[in-house]
Formats: sequence, C-alpha cells, structure tokens
Amino acid sequence: MKLLITGGAGFIGSHFIHYLLKSRPQAEVINLDLLTYAGNLENLKDLESEKRYRFVKGDILDTELVNSLISGCDGIINFAAESHVDRSISGPGTFVQTNVVGAQRLLENAKKNKMRLLQVSTDEVYGSLGEQGQFTESSPLEPNSPYSSSKAASDLMCRAYFHTYNADVVVTRCSNNYGPFQFPEKLIPLMIANARAEKSLPVYGDGLHVRDWIHVKDHCAAILLVFEKGRAGEVYNVGSNEEWPNIEIVKRILNELKRPESLISFVKDRPGHDRRYALNSSKIQKELGWRPEIPFEKGLKETIGWYLNNEAWVQNLLTGEYLKYYEEQYS
Ligand code: NAD
Ligand code: DAU
Repeated sequence: MKLLITGGAGFIGSHFIHYLLKSRPQAEVINLDLLTYAGNLENLKDLESEKRYRFVKGDILDTELVNSLISGCDGIINFAAESHVDRSISGPGTFVQTNVVGAQRLLENAKKNKMRLLQVSTDEVYGSLGEQGQFTESSPLEPNSPYSSSKAASDLMCRAYFHTYNADVVVTRCSNNYGPFQFPEKLIPLMIANARAEKSLPVYGDGLHVRDWIHVKDHCAAILLVFEKGRAGEVYNVGSNEEWPNIEIVKRILNELKRPESLISFVKDRPGHDRRYALNSSKIQKELGWRPEIPFEKGLKETIGWYLNNEAWVQNLLTGEYLKYYEEQYS
C-alpha cells in the first residue's frame, strides 16, 4: 500500500504516519505538507532515513504537483487544513482556501486517478448540543464557526463527489484529539505550557463548555480502519465518550503540575462558542470493530509527562509569529 498523506507534518497527520508505517510493514508514504505555522518536521525527525517515507513540501491547492505525486499511489488521506477555531475567527479567508478549495482539488485528483480519498473531518460540523444527546452520522450539519463551516463544506463536497461521480470517498468525523506533538495554541498543550511557566490560564466564558476527548492514537487507528474497510460514500463518527468540561481539564493539569488554581483566569468567551459536543460512534464500532483504547485519565497524565519532558519542542514553536498571535488573542 502506497499512500499520499496531506498535512502529515501536523499533529494528527504525523501520528498517523508513524502509526501506518509501524502497523503495516509494507506501506509506503508520501507526505505532502505546506509547512504552515502548524507544520513541524521535528514531529517526523525519526523517519528521516526511513526508505518507505518521503516528504514533499507543497500545497494541496497545487493540482499538478498532487497529480505527479499520486501516480502509483493507492489512495489519499487528507489531514491538511487550517485547524484552529480562534484563528478562523480572526482570519477566515485561508480556511476557505485550504479547507474548501484545497479539499475539492484533492477530490478531483482522486477521482481522475480512480483512487480512494479519506477526508479527515470533525464533529464540529454538527454544531452545538445542549446538555443531552449525541450526534449521529445523520444529524444535520449546523456549523457555527468559520473553521467548522469550512470543514462542513469539504465534508459535503465528498458526499457530492460520491453521489455525482461515484468517486471512492470516505469521511471520518472525530472529536477533540489530545496527545504529544499538539501545537500549543490548543487547550491542553496551552494550559500545560502556561501552568509550567506559572502564567495565567485563560478559560473562555464560564469554562463549562464540554468536549469529548480522544487520544490521537485512537483516532489514527480509526482512520486506517475506515480507509481500509469503510464503505464508499459513508461517514463514520469517531468519539470516545470522554466528555469533560474545560474547567475540569484545566484543574487537573494544575493539580498534576502542583500549581495553584489561582492561576485560572476567566476571559471573554469565544464568539459563537459551541457549548457541547458528543458523538455516537456505534456505527464504526459495529461495522468495523473499532474501540477507543486509551482512557482519558491515563492519556492526559502521559501527555502532561510528554510535554514536561519535551520542553525544547514547545520552546521551538514559541517564535515571533506565535507570540504575536498569543498577544492578539489574549490581550
Ligand atoms: P494541524 O493544524 O496540527 O496540522 C495541519 C497540517 O496541515 C499542518 O502540518 C500544515 O502545515 C498543513 N497544511 C495546512 N495548509 C496546507 C496546504 N494548503 N497544503 C498542504 N498542507 C497544509 O491540524 P491537526 O490538529 O493535526 O488536524 C488534522 C486534521 O484533522 C484537520 O483536517 C482537522 O480539521 C482534523 N481534525 C482535527 C481534530 C483535532 O482535535 N485536532 C479533531 C477532528 C478533526
Ligand atoms: O472537536 C474537534 C475539533 O477540536 C477539531 O476539529 C479542531 O481542529 C480542534 O482545534 C478542536 O477544536 P476546539 O475549538 O474544540 O479546540 P480548542 O483546543 O481550541 O478548545 C477546546 C475548548 O477549550 C473550547 O471549548 C475552547 C476552550 N478554550 C480554548 C483555548 C485555546 C479555552 O477556554 N481557552 C483557550 O485558551
């Protein structure tokens, strides 16, 4: 199996490449990544001399480049995206370019070359839940942020390519990932970094917004299973039923790092902030036999440990661009 992985230098994509090469000894990977602020080749440093792995710096919007790379491939898995909700609020344009136009161009490439494309989508396409209930694959798509709207557009474009052109497309909609190598703009690594530095921990609104947290390795296992065995044209929810309010996670991090809760600072809420996500994942469990294996408590402890042991990895990302972003976002 030879795959084009797009966005493989990011958080989930880099975990997936490691997972694929380890679990499928015959697999080969071409990783196409534009190396935006979120792309980091440090995540893949151990693969530099791996013969089954090749990195190409480039844009998923570059159809000719993609076309040349996929000759001889068996499929495409698209991780490439602008992925941070807060950045989509301050600058939605690149989200439309990469997440919508880029994904459509990849679909066109996959269709022409008659190969499977897996689109890595998100639970955010469904919008927000009240205190009860879960999203199923047939829940309506009601995205509320420029990020989730752009992901919903690409997700629906997959549907259109299947129904209109009979293209071989599968979609996964996963909940919030956590684990090593996550860019420190996202909740868990941001709070670990700030707690470590004894800086204030900015919690949006009342801190009672709920996310369903899944370890990135469990997500990667689901993606490979759906790519290999999922039915064309189908969508698969991927969640772990680990629902936690943000404030609870922040307190656990402080507790683990032995820092006082007085570091918590309740700040202005994110506009359009979705209150709760929860996924019903019985389809992927029944059809493909997938189950999440890493309990949140264990995974969070290990993740905190990883960040504490890899301070240099975090420090390398705190460049001028990030510091400017942080200043604008939290000032
Ligand atoms: P990330 O921001 O860490 O990585 C995105 C990667 O895409 C980066 O390496 C970046 O350089 C690359 N990229 C961006 N624009 C590109 C372009 N035009 N061409 C080529 N490469 C480009 O994101 P992530 O958290 O790893 O998420 C990966 C995918 O999974 C995204 O599609 C995201 O929407 C989806 N997803 C994420 C989560 C989560 O909790 N992080 C949950 C569900 C789904
Ligand atoms: O649900 C899947 C989605 O999860 C993915 O599609 C996105 O790519 C990914 O970024 C993530 O989106 P969220 O917006 O849920 O993740 P984030 O880590 O940005 O925020 C998690 C929660 O924490 C959310 O309710 C907002 C809150 N938060 C976040 C930050 C960065 C804070 O309270 N303070 C913060 O500083």
